Amino acid sequence: LSVKDILIRILPSGARVRLKTSWALVTGKYSEGILDAYVKDRPSPQNALDIFKGEWSSRLPPPYENTTSGRADLFEDARIRWAGKLLGGFNGVSILELGPLEAGHSYMLEKMGAKGVLAIEANTRAYLKCLIVKEILGLARVRFLLGDFIEYMSHTDERFDVCLASGVLYHMQDPAGLIRLASKVSDRIILWTHYYDDKVIKGSPALSHKFSGPVKAGSDGFEHCLYRHEYKSALGWSGFCGGGETYSNWMTRDDIITCLEHFGFTHTVVGFEQPDHANGPSFCVVGSRTPLKPEGIVGISAG
Ligand SMILES: C[S@@+](CC[C@H](N)C(=O)[O-])C[C@H]1O[C@@H](n2cnc3c(N)ncnc32)[C@H](O)[C@@H]1O
Repeated sequence: LSVKDILIRILPSGARVRLKTSWALVTGKYSEGILDAYVKDRPSPQNALDIFKGEWSSRLPPPYENTTSGRADLFEDARIRWAGKLLGGFNGVSILELGPLEAGHSYMLEKMGAKGVLAIEANTRAYLKCLIVKEILGLARVRFLLGDFIEYMSHTDERFDVCLASGVLYHMQDPAGLIRLASKVSDRIILWTHYYDDKVIKGSPALSHKFSGPVKAGSDGFEHCLYRHEYKSALGWSGFCGGGETYSNWMTRDDIITCLEHFGFTHTVVGFEQPDHANGPSFCVVGSRTPLKPEGIVGISAG
C-alpha cells in the first residue's frame, strides 16, 4: 500500500475527497466515471425510466404504455377498483399507502379522486422510481416519503380515511403489528397479501424450501403463529421489492382475518382468492370498523 492509499483509508470522508482532488491536480490523472451520469439523447420519459432499466415491475398507463418498463398492471388494478366500491369510492378521501413500489396504486387513487395520498416507501430505488413516475404522470395529490412505514405509524398522531396495505404484510417481521398500527391510523384497511397454508406450501417444491415454523407469537393480546420465510435468491435482483431483512414472517389466512377483527376491523369482505398463486396463496380483504357498501359485495367474482 502507498502512503496515499493508507491516508485514503484512515482519513475522514471530507479530508479524503480533498486528498484525492489534490492528488489528481498533482498527477493530472482524473477519473472520468462521472460522465456516465450524463444523458445525451433528446429528453424523454424513457430516459428517466432507463435510470432503473431492467428493474421495473409495472407497465405505465396510456399514453406511456409503449415505454419500456415492467409488465404488471398495477396502474390499472382491479383490486383497487373493487375496494373502492366497498368503501364508497375514493373521492375526497385521505389515504395512507404502505410500500407504493412504483406508484401504480398511488396514481389510481389520485385519478379516482383521493383528496391526498401519503405513500411511504423504504427502498431507496423504489422511492426514486415513484418520484420518476410522479414527474412523468404529473401526480399532484400524492406525496412520497422515504422511510419505514412501521416507524411512521408508530410515531404519528395523524389519521387517514383509508390505509392501503397491498403487498406488504408478508414482508413484515411482525405482520400482526402492522395490522395493529393500521388500526391506529385508520378505521378502514385494504389488504392484499400472501399467506401461509401448510398443505399448499409443503406441496410446492418451489416454495417449501423457503419456509420454517410455526413459532408462537403475540401482539398486543393477539396470539397467533408465524412461519418464517427466507427471501434467498430474490435478494440478488436490484429490482427486489420485499422487506428490509433477509427474511419475513407469514401468517395463516385465518389468523389474518382474526387479527383484523381483534384490532377493530370487525366488518371484512374477501375477494381475489388465489390459493394457487405462484408466489404463495393470496387474497384481498377490505376491513372496516363500520359496515361496507353492499354494491361492492354484490357480484364479487373478483379474482
Ligand atoms: C411487493 S411490493 C408491493 C407494491 C404495491 N403496494 C403493490 O401492491 O403492488 C412491497 C413494497 O413495500 C416496500 N416496503 C417493504 N417494507 C417496507 C417498510 N417497512 N416500509 C416502507 N416500505 C416497505 C418495498 O420496498 C416494496 O416497494
